Amino acid sequence: MAKEKKFPKHIAMIMDGNGRWATNRGKSRVFGHNAGMKAMKNIVKHCGDIGLEYLTVYAFSTENWKRSQEEVSGIFGLLIKYIDSELASLHKNNVRVNILGDFSIMEDAVKNRLEKTIELTKNNSGLIFNIALNYGSRAEILMAAKSLAFDYKNNLLKGDDINEEEFSKRLFTGILDIPDPDLVIRTSGEIRLSNFLMWQLAYSEMAFTDTLWPDFKPEELDEIIQDYMYRERRFGGRL
Ligand code: IPE
Ligand code: IPE
Ligand code: MG
Repeated sequence: MAKEKKFPKHIAMIMDGNGRWATNRGKSRVFGHNAGMKAMKNIVKHCGDIGLEYLTVYAFSTENWKRSQEEVSGIFGLLIKYIDSELASLHKNNVRVNILGDFSIMEDAVKNRLEKTIELTKNNSGLIFNIALNYGSRAEILMAAKSLAFDYKNNLLKGDDINEEEFSKRLFTGILDIPDPDLVIRTSGEIRLSNFLMWQLAYSEMAFTDTLWPDFKPEELDEIIQDYMYRERRFGGRL
């Protein structure tokens, strides 16, 4: 495959480092999440401006429930604040918002706002902004496996029909017709996936930066995209 200089279609981000950013300033973790929310707002705006098709952010994992009640409710309080203050402008900017993860279990104040957000923006044709919330890749893969088993048992699917495509269609991303990310970025210097999109990232390029998420700026994203465009993606093949 020739060296391609192609702009990415889908970027995924693990927004990490809010807690350390706040601790460095002698502030509470929730203060860090508030700063993280502002950084996310700027990044979403920028992704729309540069014409990115899909942006997926990891906002809350299935493991993040282990955190203190104070931090968890602080994060969801910020999510409510974000939707209340940003929904109109996201819609005006033609952004479509999706949620990856099971949010049916969330309190009504959150659930209702998420449903409203999805419904209002569902026909928008600009940036597709996916928020991974109560998301875990293992839970998602299990959900797909169960759905295949159910269809097989009910004779809706033959054994020979079980392939990668059928499997992918049953993931949150597949249900929403979201392609695999071209590039995944993790901030804060941690080099791991932490249960994020493990099926979908099989051939994604990866970028890790020491910048803590609240300090992550559109300029740094542009640099990472430039670097990505000069990488050679081989997908196992050779010229
Ligand atoms: C990422 O920042 C945001 C969430 C996980 C919700 P962290 O809260 O994980 O920040 P650190 O890793 O403790 O610095
Ligand atoms: C991953 O970050 C989850 C999100 C960014 C939402 P964590 O901070 O929860 O991951 P670990 O615990 O460092 O692996
Ligand atoms: Mg973290």
